[in-house]
Parts: sequence; C-alpha cells; structure tokens
Amino acid sequence: MAQAKVLGNYVPRIDAAERVTGRARYAADWKMSRMLYGRIVLSDVPHAKIAKLDDSKALALPGVDAVISFQDTKVRWSPGDRVNPRYAIADKVRFAGDVVAAVAARSRQVAKDAAELIDIEYERLPPVFNVEESLREDAPKIWDNGNIHQKFEAAHGDVEEGFKKSKQVFEGTYYTNRNHNSPLEPGASLAWWNGDQLTVVAGTQGITTCRQSLSKDLGLPLSKTRVITLFKGGGFGNKNQVMNYDLIAALLSKKAGKPVLMEYTRREDFINVHGRWSTRQLLKAGVSEDGALEAYEQKVYCDVGAYARHPARYGEAPLAYYDCHNSKSEIYVVYTNTPATGNMRAPDGVPSAFASESMMDEIAYTIGMNPLEFRLKIQGNKHHGEEYVSYGLDQCITSGAETIGWKKKWHPAGKGPTVDRLKHGIGMAMCNWHADLGQGAAIIKLNLDGTVQLAVGVTDIGTGAKSTMGLIAADALGVSLDDVKVISGDTDICPFSIGESGSRTTTFTGMAVKAAVEDAKKQLYAIAATMLDAKPDQLEIKDKTVLVKDQPDRKISLAKVAETMPDAIIGKGSLKGKLPQGKARASFAAHFAEVLVDEDTGVVTLTRYVAAHDSGPIVNKLTAESQVQGGVIMGIGSSLSEELIVNREQGFIDNPSLYTYRVPLQHDVPKIEVIFVETQDPYGPKALGEVPTVPVAPAIANAIFNATGARLRETPMTSEKVLNAVNALRGR
Ligand code: MOS
Repeated sequence: MAQAKVLGNYVPRIDAAERVTGRARYAADWKMSRMLYGRIVLSDVPHAKIAKLDDSKALALPGVDAVISFQDTKVRWSPGDRVNPRYAIADKVRFAGDVVAAVAARSRQVAKDAAELIDIEYERLPPVFNVEESLREDAPKIWDNGNIHQKFEAAHGDVEEGFKKSKQVFEGTYYTNRNHNSPLEPGASLAWWNGDQLTVVAGTQGITTCRQSLSKDLGLPLSKTRVITLFKGGGFGNKNQVMNYDLIAALLSKKAGKPVLMEYTRREDFINVHGRWSTRQLLKAGVSEDGALEAYEQKVYCDVGAYARHPARYGEAPLAYYDCHNSKSEIYVVYTNTPATGNMRAPDGVPSAFASESMMDEIAYTIGMNPLEFRLKIQGNKHHGEEYVSYGLDQCITSGAETIGWKKKWHPAGKGPTVDRLKHGIGMAMCNWHADLGQGAAIIKLNLDGTVQLAVGVTDIGTGAKSTMGLIAADALGVSLDDVKVISGDTDICPFSIGESGSRTTTFTGMAVKAAVEDAKKQLYAIAATMLDAKPDQLEIKDKTVLVKDQPDRKISLAKVAETMPDAIIGKGSLKGKLPQGKARASFAAHFAEVLVDEDTGVVTLTRYVAAHDSGPIVNKLTAESQVQGGVIMGIGSSLSEELIVNREQGFIDNPSLYTYRVPLQHDVPKIEVIFVETQDPYGPKALGEVPTVPVAPAIANAIFNATGARLRETPMTSEKVLNAVNALRGR
C-alpha cells in the first residue's frame, strides 16, 4: 500500500480553530493577579534635550505604582539602532514620538491619566526633516557622529567600460515613500519577575532571539530570562528581537514589584514602532545592441528617520537577479528627526525592485523589445559570479506569462482596448530573494504509543510555521500530521530558532527538524535491527512500522519497539547549514498584473494578478498560497494607497490610524493566482515569506504604463499621481 503523501498538500494549519474562534491567547490577552497596566509617554517635539521631567503629580495619583524616565532608567535597546545607542527610554528626543517616560497603574484609565500628568520641559533643538537638509555641512546634528547612519559602496567589474560598450544608456530617478508594517496586533508585552528571574510574554517574531537581546540589554543571564509567545498577530519585520515595549514592561515590573502589561495603542504603534524608510534612487543602465545588460549603476538615498533598526542591506538586491557583470552602488542611509524605520517584509527589496524593474520596463519599450523577452534576456542564474544551487526564474517568467495570457494581451503602451472607457494594461516584474542556509535546532520525541512530540523555537507570525515543522517531521517519520504534537512558544522548553524574519524559518529550522528525525531513527533502527535480526541500514519506516527494505514481511510496529524502551526515544537536530564556496541560494518570482485605468480620475483598478514563484519544493500548498496572496496584498497597499505621511514641516506623522493609513480593503484586491515552480533544491524548501511583496509595485507601475503610456516613478501611485502623469502626457 502506497503511503499517503504528507508534503505538498493543502493542509489547514494546526491552530486554525483556536485562531478563528478567539481562543488563541495573544500577549495582551494574558491576565495575572495584581497585574498593572503600562502606558508610554511620547515626546511631542521632534528634536530636543529634556530640560526637566517632573513625575510627582503622576505618582501622587491613586493607583499609580511606578514611573520610569531617563532620570532613573538608562537601558540600551541594542536592536533599536544598529550604529548609535538607542535607549528604551530616550534621554534626548530625536523625533516626535520618542518614548520619554512610562507609567504603570492599576487600570488602563489611571495609567492614561498618569501619563498625561508627567510634566516635561524641552529645550528645543533645530530639527531636520529631509535627507537633503540632513546631509548639509551645517545641518543640526542628530547624533554626535553626524547624520549618516551608514554609507555603502560596492563595485563589480568595470562599470565605465560597461557604459562605453553599451549601445544605449538610460537614466531615471525613482522614489518610494514611507510605509508601515501595520500588523493587526499592536505592540504588547507582559513582564513579571520571580526574584531575579524575568518572564516576558512578548508579541515577538522570535522567542529565542528576543530572549537573547532581552538578556543582553538588561544584563541578565540567559538562564534567568524566559520569553513566551504562544500566538503572534503579525509583525512583518517590526517585532524582531526585543522591542522597547518588552524592555519597558520588564523595567516597570521590576520597579513596581508586580506584573506589568504594556500595550501600545494603534496610534502609538504607527508612530513609535518602525515602518519602512523612504528612498530616492538614481539609476543608470546601459544595454547592448541585442538587449544585454552591460552596466548598472545606482545611487540611493534612504531617509531612515531618527533611528535605523535594519541590519545592513539597503538596496543592492536587483544585482542578484540581473545578468550584469559591471555594476556600481553608492547608498547613503541618512538620519532625520522623523520616526524610526527598520525591517518591513523584504526591507530593501521592495523599494529597489520598484526602481530597477520599472527602469528595465522603460528600457524594453524604448529599445523596442517586448518586456517579457527583455526579462528573459537579462535574468541571471549567478550572483556576482556565484552560481545558484537551484534556479527557476526563467520558469517563473514563462509560466506566469502563459497563465495570464501575455502573448494575447500585451499591446504597445496606450494602445490597448478600453472597457467602459477604462484603459486596459498589462505589466510584469521579476525578483529574487536570498535563501541562505543557517542555524536551526529541533528536539523530537518518539512516544511509546507511536506518536511524536516536536519541540521547535518557531513563532507563528501568520506563515503557518508550527504546521510546517509538524509536516516536515511527519513526512520524515512516515506518520501523519495528526500524530505529531508541535510544542513551541516558550524558551524554557524550546530550542533555538532563528525567529520569523528573513524568510528563513522553513529552511533553517526545517533542516534541523529533519536532522532530529534522522537522529531518532538511528536510535530506533539500532533497537529494531536486533528485534528483526537485520542490519540498521536495511531498515526503513512506513506507517508507524519499521520494516526491512524490500522484504515487507519482516516488520515491527513502532509501538512494539517502544515497549522495550524505558521511555521515549529522543532525537536532536542542531546544525548550522553552509553553502559550498562559490554557490548562492535564492528564491525567485515573476509577477503579472492587469489593470484598468480611468484616465479622467487616475483611479487604477487591478483586475487580475498572477504570481509565479520558485521557492523550491512546497511543504504546505495551502499556507504557501496564502502567504503569497498576503504578500501581494501588502504589495498592492504600498503600490497604490499606503503611505505613512511624515509632515515635513513639523516631523509628525499625519496619519497614524488604520482609517487614514490606507491598507487595501477587500474590494481593492483582485483574484490572485499563485503558481509554484517547484525546482529541486539540494537543501529543500527555499524562502517564501518576503518574496511576494517584492515585485508588486513595478508590476503594477508597468501595467499602468502599458495602459496609458504614462510612467509612474513614485510609490504609492495614488490616483492623484496617476492623473497628473496622464495629464502631463496629454498636455492637459
Ligand atoms: Mo523580516 S522584514 O526579515 O522580519
């Protein structure tokens, strides 16, 4: 009897019922006796020294247990800024919205009242609200060492020579504006102390990395720091490692001697928790007679606000999917007195793909090549000479094009059919996203009854990671997912996992799960071999039975083997994957958008969307498809409507609410068809989480161009911008 296939099916996530019935317990759902409510105080000026802070009125309010401010609390929040020291409670104000104090009180209302009673006198400093001003010699200094967070320079081949060889050289400037991750669950954290032992119920993307930075920042031994996250309501990159609200909850709890639940309001989440930075990107590209990419040069300016929470990459991404040997990058990452920025789903990938894939489209139209043919020409299976261990970008391009009907539907720009006077357009864009190997761990227990327990440090931020790990274990053991109990969410019982960031969990922890199963099998086969009078390497496992390969009569049930054991078999997997020298690994995607554009109003309606992805073999089609659809929806938001508007006169955020920060609504989203090109990869499944947001903006911009002949070079491409571009083209 053939064993049912465990991987590659449509499997509902293991905690689906808990999530949809409201039984799932998120950080802010926890209640403890004597628990206090925390509330932060945000600065209302953009740049200042704190001259005086008086908390006496707040402390005098009945029900207030503790106040912390720079006067008694100086804790470096190390992931808060990668270069400069950022503190959990600011000692100097660098943007309107910096946390300057926090209170803990017996009710939410008292906490709110107390926060308002804290008297602060600011000694204002001149602020700077944009990159151009910030880079001036005489600009006010946001940090002692200047206003440049980082400057990256990279060069490959000979870019000057490349431009000389080019038949045509193109230049263009592209802009992307601020976005916000806007997860459904705003920042929340509950902390309590048991003597010198700290427990934090955190709304984090990764329990083990949160614990590491929590213990580092508070100077606690790892063994005395515990992080619990049973459920996570989205993060998209703004809840990696420790967050300031985790530290503040811990500090308030220490001072008050009681558990403290710290909650951010939606407004505070928009203002104080980072989103994605804005960019100005100056691109230059040269192509040969036959459309080969000879040279690529970029100069990028990023406005990262007052603090930068992003580790390093700021926009070299496109060079990883173009076949181009001569390139040069210069990237300026610049501070301003505006809210902090950092990771957001494919942090640099989204802005850089908008610029590069818009420009490639412009080039294709100008040299008279079909944009699809041009992409097939310039896509590259190497990254700076390192060959990808698996490569499916070409197949993504061709299969996506076929599904959407590119050949029939593509037309010269502005020359397509109209539907009720709306102009039809079709566009495409491609990308890749790194899928490196790295560190993971898992512990598996084969129980006496033939069932399995799997402990992994994953946090499920919406990807279905718990189910994914369960499926990988079930497949490797030849059991069904129902037989696997996944234990996660508590650093006291779960081993290391990278944290759900960088689209790494399925690869890193997934490989460790397989290793743990191998370890358990080795022990199991050693025992079963004597019972079956066979050699361990002759054995295999199927349907909870150990059998001798090719001799189906010689077998023994898992439960029978287990009976001989004092307790379960425990398998461990802990590894640090590393690619061979000269190799690279990435996921790939090609997206196709169809639009109808109203040239009288600028309104863009998406009518169809096809997303073709190479993320290697797919573990669970259901969660993987949702992942792609969710990513595309997020991309549609930042393409067409989402902008966190920084008031460039005052430095405030003008729209810190879900009503004014326009995430896509149901009616903004077309049918999104997902294609998986499942290339064989020697290491298994590849990255998926971030990839689908990357090519959305250029695919839509290119479709708008195909519809109207007007080129949009700034996101979000609001109807106002579309209308202006169309009017400019028509001389209206
Ligand atoms: Mo992500 S933006 O790597 O959490």
